[in-house]
Amino acid sequence: MSISKRFFKVNEMKSAIILLLSCHISIALAENVAYHVWNNPIPEKAVGNPGQTCSVPKGKTFGDVMDLAALKNPQGYGFNFTRFDFGRMITSIGGVSQDPGNGLYWMLFQLDDEPKPENPPTRKNLASYGVDGMIIERDDIFLFWLTNMGHASPK
Ligand SMILES: *[C@@H]1O[C@H](CO)[C@@H](O)[C@H](O)[C@H]1NC(C)=O
Repeated sequence: MSISKRFFKVNEMKSAIILLLSCHISIALAENVAYHVWNNPIPEKAVGNPGQTCSVPKGKTFGDVMDLAALKNPQGYGFNFTRFDFGRMITSIGGVSQDPGNGLYWMLFQLDDEPKPENPPTRKNLASYGVDGMIIERDDIFLFWLTNMGHASPK
């Protein structure tokens, strides 16, 4: 799916904002990655934080996309992390921290379509790796969502 197609799927005002925030870097063989952030349970639109599209060279990771997005829009996409052997674990995004006391963690989802609040992703959309292990291989769509989904205790 081309970027322009993605832009026209959302309403005009939102697409104008996305265009403004887009971090375009002209690199040959780049992959276009859509990156969304939802607070719990408020979708990004309600917090004035529309999705961002970043271009990164082939072989880069989603962690690289996050670094780029944070550079372009520190208020919406800045983040804190704890570093482990496998890479960074995200503890806060846009000034909103995880909340282990209430079972809320920043969870990464890898999606086939733009995320919709009325049809939110499920556990099967959880990304298989941490941000620094997710190699961008195609026009990916990622969502970071502050949710208890991944850590909910079995019923
Ligand atoms: C990083 O953590 C500090 C301390 O908890 C917090 O004040 C700040 O808002 C966080 N930054 C981001 C970008 O989430």
